[in-house]
Amino acid sequence: MARAAMISRRLFAALLVATAVSTTAFGQQQRRFYVPPVAGSVRSVAAEGGMVVAQENLAARIGADILRQGGNAVDAAVATGFTMAVTYPRAGNIGGGGFMVIHLAERNEDVAIDYRETAPQTATSDMFLGADGKPDPDKSRNSALGIGVPGTVAGLALALEKYGSGKFTLAQILKPAIDLARDGFVVTDDTADTLPDMYRRMSRWPNSATIFSRADGTPLHEGDLLIQSDLTATLTAICEQGPRAFYEGAVAEQLVKAIRGAGGIISLDDLKSYRAVIRAPVRGTYRGYDIVSMPLPSSGGIVLLEILNILEGFPMSDMTQGSAASLHVMIEAMKRGYADRARLLGDLAFVDAPTQILIAKDYAAKQRASIDLTRATPWAGSLDARPLREGSNTTHYSVIDAKGNAVSNTYTLNFPYGLGLVAEGTGVLLNNELDDFTAAPGASNAFGLVGFEANLPGPGKRPLSSMSPTIVLKDGKPVLVTGSPGGSRIISAVTQVIVDVIDYRMDVAAAVAAPRLHHQWLPDEVRVERGFPDDVLAELRAKGHRLVEPLGYSSANSILVTPDGPRGGADPRTRGSEAAAQ
Ligand code: GLY
Repeated sequence: MARAAMISRRLFAALLVATAVSTTAFGQQQRRFYVPPVAGSVRSVAAEGGMVVAQENLAARIGADILRQGGNAVDAAVATGFTMAVTYPRAGNIGGGGFMVIHLAERNEDVAIDYRETAPQTATSDMFLGADGKPDPDKSRNSALGIGVPGTVAGLALALEKYGSGKFTLAQILKPAIDLARDGFVVTDDTADTLPDMYRRMSRWPNSATIFSRADGTPLHEGDLLIQSDLTATLTAICEQGPRAFYEGAVAEQLVKAIRGAGGIISLDDLKSYRAVIRAPVRGTYRGYDIVSMPLPSSGGIVLLEILNILEGFPMSDMTQGSAASLHVMIEAMKRGYADRARLLGDLAFVDAPTQILIAKDYAAKQRASIDLTRATPWAGSLDARPLREGSNTTHYSVIDAKGNAVSNTYTLNFPYGLGLVAEGTGVLLNNELDDFTAAPGASNAFGLVGFEANLPGPGKRPLSSMSPTIVLKDGKPVLVTGSPGGSRIISAVTQVIVDVIDYRMDVAAAVAAPRLHHQWLPDEVRVERGFPDDVLAELRAKGHRLVEPLGYSSANSILVTPDGPRGGADPRTRGSEAAAQ
């Protein structure tokens, strides 16, 4: 309550305005409830060497194959990333962006690669407002104005060049992806189920929909072959000329033509000047483990550390896993972390965000002191709840090699299939990442995440993300590689996997499969998956928590390193996810 009182009147006024104008994309999207497997029925996969755990099995196997050929975790991660641009088009991409956290065993060094999309140079802080001066979500979510300058090609190429084993050229790493784009692969039930929704968005750009269509113009079905000839040509250009072939020359010209033709503002200069950035990861500790995660412009690592720091002061292992007592403190910790995200975080190049204060243990002690073990803290007063959008929009994979190098990579197009616009002649699906900016102070993005001045759009600025690729180390060696898709739900999903593994000593597959919940400060509600016992839910309600089903999609494909070797936990929420051993 004390911190709620600190929120200024101006901020609350802005929140109220934003609540009135916010809308949610995909409101009618089909909702599939995750039903967790019966306890004890999921088992992690063991590997003797390295492994790749990803949401799509062809890409996971190609990464594992690179490990088998003597590649390191970075070689495998880059191969998996490029392959998923072909085999998992809803989220795998070269037209979006993401973040990679790497642990280099021999150098005992951790690095982060920021390949987040940037706003074009002509972006303005009011670009997502309507004529009435109010946020117009249609502009950021459904128009080409929402496209950020893609970072994936630069980011993956940079990772390979700086941290790959040196045994593979970019062309060798790209070959499996090119083969699959050219020869095609069989559409799975998982992908087929996403196509009808995607079709509605793509219908504005018939060329885009054609790629995913049968001859009769209807969406591809399970069992059909998906061949992507234009994407083959684009990947081949990158293969032959290097990553600049995406940012300059014929491909860049086609991208700009398509984007501007659809009403966007990205220029050839924006593409030419895009750079992926090597950053120092954000670091903290949790019960003697080192947590290494993504720094700004992702809020993921900071908020994850805030939440873990708060939890560290509670005897989590004395509370039963999944009990109301354990879940209550997790919810309260999440609320506080997400509140700081909303108020304070944005691209460091533009905003003086107080990272070190937020991840300090003494700050967590103050936050902890405001938690009442018997009652929910009312953080959002009487603001209306905004439903969270379902989404299979981002994708995460974890990689480890036999030498202990590890990669945690999360990348995205923002919405499933991004904007739904494929730049003609390139096969490149374009993102709508700029919706992760805050259109106006107090407005929310498609995930219902509220933001303020720190995250307004600006020229060359990177929108605040929640992606949280994370590596947990003990004595300098990786013990857990984790992360998830799911927009705002990423940070809470990663928190729960870490707590389940460290505090509750769960097998990684069980930790990944366990039902999850989520609180993001606003809306003031706890989103819950199915699988929590009724008495636990009743106890949480009695403490004053407003519980709402469903919790949108997440998929925390993780690796736990045990004394007997790595064990992979592919998330059962994603059909087709796989832990592929070397
Ligand atoms: N677009 C989702 C995120 O970056 O958090």
